[in-house]
Amino acid sequence: MTNPRRTLRGCAWLIGVWLCACGDAPIGAPSTGGVPGGGIGGAPVGGSAGAMVVDPVAGGAGGAGGMIVPPAGAGGAGGTTAGTGGAGGMMTAPPSGPVSFHKDIRPLIEARCLGCHIDGGSGPFPLDSWEKVDPLKSAVVAAVKSRKMPPWLADSTDCTKTRGDQRLTDAQLALFTEWEATSFPLGNEADFVALGEPPAREIGEPNLIIKARTPHQLSPGREYYACEQVDTRIEVDTWVTAMDIIPENPEFVHHAIVSVGGGSCSALGTTAENIYSYRPGSRTLIFEEGDALLLPAGSVIAIQFHYNTRFAAFGASLPTDSSAYRLWTLPAGQKPQRAIARMPHHDLFITIPVNAVDQKEGGSTGIGSEYAQPGAEIIGISPHMHYLGQTFKETLEKGDGTSVCLVDIPDWNQDWQLDYFYDPADYIPVSWGDTVVQECVYSNRAEDQGRDPEGNLFTPMTTRFGEDTRQEMCLGYIWFRYPLAGTQ
Ligand code: HEC
Repeated sequence: MTNPRRTLRGCAWLIGVWLCACGDAPIGAPSTGGVPGGGIGGAPVGGSAGAMVVDPVAGGAGGAGGMIVPPAGAGGAGGTTAGTGGAGGMMTAPPSGPVSFHKDIRPLIEARCLGCHIDGGSGPFPLDSWEKVDPLKSAVVAAVKSRKMPPWLADSTDCTKTRGDQRLTDAQLALFTEWEATSFPLGNEADFVALGEPPAREIGEPNLIIKARTPHQLSPGREYYACEQVDTRIEVDTWVTAMDIIPENPEFVHHAIVSVGGGSCSALGTTAENIYSYRPGSRTLIFEEGDALLLPAGSVIAIQFHYNTRFAAFGASLPTDSSAYRLWTLPAGQKPQRAIARMPHHDLFITIPVNAVDQKEGGSTGIGSEYAQPGAEIIGISPHMHYLGQTFKETLEKGDGTSVCLVDIPDWNQDWQLDYFYDPADYIPVSWGDTVVQECVYSNRAEDQGRDPEGNLFTPMTTRFGEDTRQEMCLGYIWFRYPLAGTQ
C-alpha cells in the first residue's frame, strides 16, 4: 500500500467553528518523531474544500464549540508513540551479584515508571535519576510491592494475557524487596542495561486533530468534570486506524472520554458510545494493520474532560487547557480488511446498601449477531466501575461449553480505567450464541468511598446504577474485529 500524506486542503470559519476539508489520507507516513509538549494544532489553513468535511453540531450542548485543526508540522504533538503493544515479554534474568540500583532497579524504573514520573508527566514527582529516586526509595519499593505502581489492574496469571502488560513479574518484585533488605545499594553505573521494549507500529502523523476552540481556563484546588466538549459531525464514513488524546497539561487532566453518536458529554442515556478514554499514561491506541473502526457519516463526537487541580500550589495561577483528540484515518473511500466494533454490556440493576462488603453483581449477555460475524474475534476489553468497585472479572462462555477468561482485576481502582488488549496470537474467536459473564464486586463502607472536590471522603449512601461517580456501574466494553466482505 502506498501511503500518500494527507494534505489538508481547506478550512473555513463557520458558525463558531472551523470547518475543515481534507484531501487524501495519510496512514503510515514514517514518523518524524514527536517532540513531547510541542505545539498542538496550529492555525487552520485556507483553501478549497476537499473530500472529508467535519462539521459542527448545531446547538451542541453548551460546549465550547469544535475546532478542527490540521496537525502541526512534523513532530507537532508526538511523544506518545508507543502503541497498545508496549512492553512485550520482559527479561527477568536471575540477578547475578548483589542487587543494586543501576543493575536491577533502574532498568525497571526507566521502562515502567518514567512514562509518568518525569518532569511535566502525570506522576506526582520525577524518578529519572538516582538523585530523585534516593529520597523516595522506600516509597518506591512500597508502591511496587503493593502493586499500586505501575498502574495495570489486569492480572493475567489465570486469564488471557494482556498486551503491553505493565505489571512487574514476581521475580522483578523480588528484586525491589531484596534491594530494600540490603539497604538500597547504588551499584556501578556501568552495570546498567536498558530493557528492550518492542517498538510500536509506525503510523506517522495524525490526519485530524480535534480540540475545543476556546481553551478551558483551569479552576484551582478541585476535581471536576468540564463538559468542555467539542462537538463535531463527521460528514463522510471515516475509518479510524489509531487515536489518542494528548493532554496539554498532563498534571491536571485526570481523564478524558471521547464518545460518538450522542452529541453530549455523557454516553449513557443517549445513543452515544465511548470510543476512547485517556488516562494518565495512556498510549496511542493503534489497531493492527488492516483493522479500523468506523465513524459513520453524521457521527457526532463529544469529548468530556475530568480535571484535577487539587494538588496545584495554593494561589497558583493555572494555565488554560486545550488538549487535543488526534485521529489517524484511512483515505476517504478506502475500506479496511477488518472492522473494529465495541460492545457495551452492563448490569443496570445494582443496589448496594451502606456497609455492604463484597457484594456480587453482574450477569450474562449474549453476543449479538452484529458482533459475532463470521470470523469475528475478541481483541480486548475495557472494564468500568466507580469507587465502590473491588474486583471485576469477565468470562466468555462458548456455545460448546468451554470458557475463556477475558479479564481478571483482583484489586479494582477507580483511578485507572484502562483498556486491555491481547496479542493478535491470543485473539479469541467468537460465535453467535456465545455469552459473556460479568462479575463485579462492591463494598460500601466509609473507607471505600470516593472523595469530594476538596478531597474529603464522601459519606456512604445506598448506591444504585448510575453514571455519576457517586453511583455505580458494572460495565464492560468488549472490542471485536471481523472481516469485511469484499476487502480480503
Ligand atoms: C501511568 C502513569 C504512572 C506510571 C507508569 C507509574 N506511576 Fe507512580 N504515580 C502515578 C500517579 C498519577 C500517582 C499519584 C496518584 C496515586 O498515588 O495513585 C503516582 C504515585 C506514585 C507514588 C506515590 C504512592 C503513594 O502511595 O502515594 C510512588 C512511590 C510511585 N508512584 C512510584 C512509581 C513507580 C516506582 C513506578 C514504576 C514501577 C510508577 N510509579 C509508575 C502515575 C504513574
